[in-house]
Amino acid sequence: MHESFWQERWAREQIGFHLEQVNPYLLRHWPQLGAPAAARVLVPLCGKSLDLAWLAGQGHRVLGVELAEKAVQAFFAEQELQPEISRQGAFKVYRAGALELWCGDFFALRADDVADCLALYDRAALIALPPPMRERYAAHLTAILPRGCRGLLITLDYLQSQMDGPPFAVSDDEVQGHFAAAWQLKTLQREDVLAGNWKFIRHELKALDEVVYRLDKRE
Ligand SMILES: C[S@@+](CC[C@H](N)C(=O)[O-])C[C@H]1O[C@@H](n2cnc3c(N)ncnc32)[C@H](O)[C@@H]1O
Repeated sequence: MHESFWQERWAREQIGFHLEQVNPYLLRHWPQLGAPAAARVLVPLCGKSLDLAWLAGQGHRVLGVELAEKAVQAFFAEQELQPEISRQGAFKVYRAGALELWCGDFFALRADDVADCLALYDRAALIALPPPMRERYAAHLTAILPRGCRGLLITLDYLQSQMDGPPFAVSDDEVQGHFAAAWQLKTLQREDVLAGNWKFIRHELKALDEVVYRLDKRE
């Protein structure tokens, strides 16, 4: 999936993935992760999610990574924050207090950049990517994040032949395949969300599940 796809989505405000409230799974499951408040949280493909501000409100430093500068600027404007802007390698960094949004390509992120990220939050990041990129995304996360990192991964599962992504269907087997070698994986919740999703009902999907995983990096 090319960068221009996402830049266009943001330019045209086609951002149906954006939630106007903090993600309920984050509210429910983050506290039981036991991530120390001092842990910095990596939020890959973060958009302008309100979850970033919520995580900062829990005492965390937050490192969001997002391609579209429009999303980054909208986030700080909507939070009524005046960010300082600097450069860090390939990224343009917007920083206000505990919140840093790095504008650029997630795949340019290096292990040094995230050495103190002992927590991870993926909502609509893995599932935003087509299959070969998901493989690369999971491998990159695993390669750069430190041992002991823990986090939440929220996926969507449906029959891919019934609808094109994004959001893409990511099965339980696929999640295991991406992460089980280096991360301990636990399913925290699986919710049938078809009834509440008119956008998906019109594709005549037979099933639509959201799944929340806990991830703990072993090596
Ligand atoms: C489906 S949206 C999810 C945004 C956010 N996680 C949320 O829950 O609202 C995926 C986001 O990833 C961004 N994105 C896609 N590819 C990226 C990449 N390689 N590096 C950084 N951001 C990327 C897109 O611009 C888009 O904002």
